[in-house]
Amino acid sequence: MKYLVTGGAGFIGSNIVKLLLQKGHEVSIVDNLHTGHLSRLENVKENISFENIDIRNYEKLLEKVANIDGIFHQAALTIVPESFEKTEEYFDVNVNGTNNIFKIAEKLNIKVVFASSSSVYGNVKKVPIKENFEKNPINPYGKTKVEKEKLAEKFWNNNVNIIGLRYFNVYGKGQTGTYAGVITQFMKRLEKNLPPIIHGKGNQVRDFVAVEDVAKANLMSMESSHPQDFLNVGTGKAISILELAKIMIKISGKDFSPIFDDGLPGDVEESQADVTRSKDKVDWNYDMELGVGLEKLMRN
Ligand SMILES: NC(=O)c1ccc[n+]([C@@H]2O[C@H](COP(=O)([O-])OP(=O)(O)OC[C@H]3O[C@@H](n4cnc5c(N)ncnc54)[C@H](O)[C@@H]3O)[C@@H](O)[C@H]2O)c1
Repeated sequence: MKYLVTGGAGFIGSNIVKLLLQKGHEVSIVDNLHTGHLSRLENVKENISFENIDIRNYEKLLEKVANIDGIFHQAALTIVPESFEKTEEYFDVNVNGTNNIFKIAEKLNIKVVFASSSSVYGNVKKVPIKENFEKNPINPYGKTKVEKEKLAEKFWNNNVNIIGLRYFNVYGKGQTGTYAGVITQFMKRLEKNLPPIIHGKGNQVRDFVAVEDVAKANLMSMESSHPQDFLNVGTGKAISILELAKIMIKISGKDFSPIFDDGLPGDVEESQADVTRSKDKVDWNYDMELGVGLEKLMRN
């Protein structure tokens, strides 16, 4: 098959690209390199086609999508604190850009698997979180994901097959940036021989899922005959940020206690997926236990 990956130079997109190549698929990538890096694709550059295109540019996108069989849509602005400052731009890229991708899928009659987020739920009354829980995002980034889902529902009515994956906290090799996920932040500090900094009290609870498992969820959703849905992509297990810091300190072998700092705006208290529906509908389940994933990440 020939697939398009938007945001393929990003953390998750580049892992999807690698999985697709491993499985023998042809891969085209569009990415404007806003937070993406070509270095993530260095090892596979001979086997992909890459175009520096902004997903807001429908005409240019259309020129590049001949003969594709499906789209993995990952491109987005992704930094929660920044989304408060640049709300309009976040809506433009995440919502209008996604509208372009769905329009192309409709035109070519192909399936899209796109990155939604657990941020659509906001602060929930109970965990684990099921897909039918109310959407109640507490930051502009999460609101763009809700809008993307509304667009998906609109295109579902036109018989376009679209699956939105609500990723929980994704971690793994290749995550970069000042606002990278907490595991990457803690790891960077430990590598510099500094204790991890916890924002807030550390009793926030998160469901961490390995990027390799997220890539697999994408491919399984694409290949599944299940046409249209929103599905949680997490492990169903949760850990507090304080506990996470302690485990990572232990793996590092250093004698530290975490430092506590102010909480982050737009941070939810509890996040833990119910993954029953993903198992039922596209037969996906995670493989990598957090402890194993952390060891792998920190010892490499
Ligand atoms: N990392 C997580 O824990 C997590 C959790 C939930 C959802 N997501 C979603 O997963 C997707 C991938 O996230 P990531 O963590 O890999 O982030 P990332 O920033 O590494 O990847 C996003 C990619 O999109 C590209 N991009 C941004 N604006 C673009 C535009 N206008 N045109 C073309 N390309 C553009 C960037 O250059 C980058 O390569 C995003 O949609 C994000 O919202 C991530």
